[in-house]
Amino acid sequence: MIAVRGATTVAQDSPQEIREVVKELLDELARQNNLKESDILFILFSNTADIRSLYPAKAAREAGYSLPALYSSAEPEIEGALPLCIRVLLLAETCAKARHVYLRGAQGLRRDLKRFSVALDGPSGSGKSTVAKLLARELDILYLDTGAMYRACALKVLRTGGDLSDEAKVSSVVSEIDLQILYKNGAQITVLDGADVSEAIRMPEVSMAASKVSAYAAVRKKMVQMQRKIAAEQSCVLDGRDIGTCVLPDAEFKFFITATADVRAKRRYDELKAKGYNVDFVSLKKEIEERDRNDSSRSVSPLKKAEDAVVIDTSSMGIDEVLQKIKQKIQEKV
Ligand code: DC
Repeated sequence: MIAVRGATTVAQDSPQEIREVVKELLDELARQNNLKESDILFILFSNTADIRSLYPAKAAREAGYSLPALYSSAEPEIEGALPLCIRVLLLAETCAKARHVYLRGAQGLRRDLKRFSVALDGPSGSGKSTVAKLLARELDILYLDTGAMYRACALKVLRTGGDLSDEAKVSSVVSEIDLQILYKNGAQITVLDGADVSEAIRMPEVSMAASKVSAYAAVRKKMVQMQRKIAAEQSCVLDGRDIGTCVLPDAEFKFFITATADVRAKRRYDELKAKGYNVDFVSLKKEIEERDRNDSSRSVSPLKKAEDAVVIDTSSMGIDEVLQKIKQKIQEKV
């Protein structure tokens, strides 16, 4: 069972506006908490005394919330309180963690819940995805691995027997791609054509293919659209190559994570060896350098540091140290 809180405001005391904002607030609470109407047991509203034209509970019923018990009460007048405000407390049957939702003029009531994004860009093997995952867990926000999306595009092209250098064909395959990014216990699951490909996209041949298909404008356009949509809905840490420069140029926090090619190749070597792949360090390093060249020299959104990004060279740093440094920079800015 969870208790979810929320609030919103109206610009004036009109039934039409109350209906609109109550529906918006409840729909958003349900969406963010992944609730079906049948999960919601009880919705308790209170509103400031300057709202008289319609009970929020009645607006909820009119908006189609017919199953949960509903209750509204007027708050006493409190000097200095946010005017024309509707608050809600919703009890629901789920074991997920509650996500509180504050909309419109009420956003300022919980500045700590304000949506924000952290952009982590950098070359392959710089350690950014490990750090991104840990950071998202500590901040209790979503982690979006954008590289996984380009890898899924590449896997699709490989599976359809497409020629990776045929831009028109690759673009057409990707334009119809059935790709979903889902989350299970906080971990990203990449679903291609209805099947979980989170492991398959890590195969070494997919890495090089991803670097090739990610250079095509139509592929990038489609992926960037999906990434922006996900980031607009909640706070998240995104890692990639162009997050700070192109996907979210207004991201609140930007970092460029880098390391020497030797260190990066060694990290990838250890990672692949641990997974049982038979890899050769020298060819892996060559491949990493070639991917760097591809990713940095392509004409559309190349791998580049955003002007306002903080650079962190992780060549001689452990993951914990990198994480601490990022958290410290975030703290300095808030
Ligand atoms: O981070 P990664 O190795 O999983 O990324 C796979 C490829 O996708 C990489 O070669 C570059 C590309 N990529 C990109 O162009 N833009 C992103 N935002 C993320 C990855």
